[in-house]
Amino acid sequence: MLPKVAKRSSPWLWRTFQSTVAVLTVVLVLLALSPDLLELNGSQASSILFFSTTPSVDSIDESNTNSLVESMRTECTESQRQTILAQLPPQDCEIYQGKPWVNKCSFSYATRCPDAIWLTEFWKQPALSETQHPTAIYVGCNKGMDAVNTLRMISANTVFDKTAWRQEFFANALKLNQTIHPGHCGQENVEQFAISSGTGTASPLDASVFCIEAMPQTADQLNRSSYQLGWQNSLVVTNAAVSSTDGIALFPSKQAGQKIGVENMGLADCQNEKTKRHCTEIPQYTLDTYADKFIQKDAWIDFLSIDVEGFDWDVLMGGDKVLERVKYLEFEYNWRGNWKKNALSSTMETLKSKDFVCYWAGAQGHIWRITDCWMEHYNLKFWSNVACVRPQSAPALAARMEAMFQETLAAGTAIKYDH
Ligand SMILES: *[C@@H]1O[C@H](CO)[C@@H](O)[C@H](O)[C@H]1NC(C)=O
Ligand SMILES: *[C@@H]1O[C@H](CO)[C@@H](O)[C@H](O)[C@H]1NC(C)=O
Repeated sequence: MLPKVAKRSSPWLWRTFQSTVAVLTVVLVLLALSPDLLELNGSQASSILFFSTTPSVDSIDESNTNSLVESMRTECTESQRQTILAQLPPQDCEIYQGKPWVNKCSFSYATRCPDAIWLTEFWKQPALSETQHPTAIYVGCNKGMDAVNTLRMISANTVFDKTAWRQEFFANALKLNQTIHPGHCGQENVEQFAISSGTGTASPLDASVFCIEAMPQTADQLNRSSYQLGWQNSLVVTNAAVSSTDGIALFPSKQAGQKIGVENMGLADCQNEKTKRHCTEIPQYTLDTYADKFIQKDAWIDFLSIDVEGFDWDVLMGGDKVLERVKYLEFEYNWRGNWKKNALSSTMETLKSKDFVCYWAGAQGHIWRITDCWMEHYNLKFWSNVACVRPQSAPALAARMEAMFQETLAAGTAIKYDH
């Protein structure tokens, strides 16, 4: 859900990242010689570090892409599974499964604020100019911080600027005496996508981001800000709910002291008799209906972000047709909403049948393949983030993600999310 620039706040983390990238480069070279070397354990990987010189996932060429895409469609080996279990151990998830709201589980620790550096690195590649009209959809646009950053990234246009957006959006809210609730992951303050001359596309692309927000007041602020900045043709705001059926939805209008961008208040509050009276009727679309109404037919969707507080499952289920033309997808897994009744394992099967390969989306390049590497404790429901890619339609991005997964495994016991 959050394409962000990797923070370099800690020199140690940055060095670790550099080292792991270095390890990956060597692994890739060795992979060409012997696929068995993929099963490197941590100590082997770190001894190899001494020989590495040029760290870069950017150097994935076509033959590497093919072999990575092939490997991402195969079952994890037993030794890969052991490494994943050590890095994302099941213990906390099992202990706290009765009270998921405490968020104590390895894959939740690892993925609650993903930085999606595989995505930002991918969009820095000049090859992207092949995409004529990049398109993204944000289901659950919130304060628009991530949507604006994505618009900047896929258009390579510096006009779309998070600082300008923040000022416009917050000024609008202040005029109406509305307080702004800070995002879970500090999206307001994360550095925006860096557009540097010499990389990326030669000229800005004609990109669109469809920003769908159910909360009426928030949608109104988003729309107003987009118009005031003159971005309305690129940042298209719709006030609607997206779910598994078409119809009318009740959505909170004036709760919580008119806070804008309250992320943990959603459709569920309007099913409660006590809080229902604070709700307004808004249109509800399936993702398929929304796309028919608002998005050019047959256009590729480069990026679909779903962040609707537990109703992500419903959005996916209503997107049967649209998903066929999505290249990359991020959604939130949760214990709330309809995730209560639906298992992640079956969602993974559904997505696999549509050619998606899914990963736990962590930070600092930590990413774990879920598809064909399933672990029982993943069905314990905790707030976490999943990123999926379709290798058929986005091979270069897919290869980058699989390379980062292998890099994560190569770090062995240096990575462990157990607190
Ligand atoms: C905002 O609050 C100030 C001070 O309490 C008040 O004077 C003003 O009328 C309010 N504005 C709106 C739009 O409610
Ligand atoms: C956004 O603002 C424009 C111009 O004021 C208006 O025509 C449109 O209906 C608004 N859309 C939403 C979703 O509020």
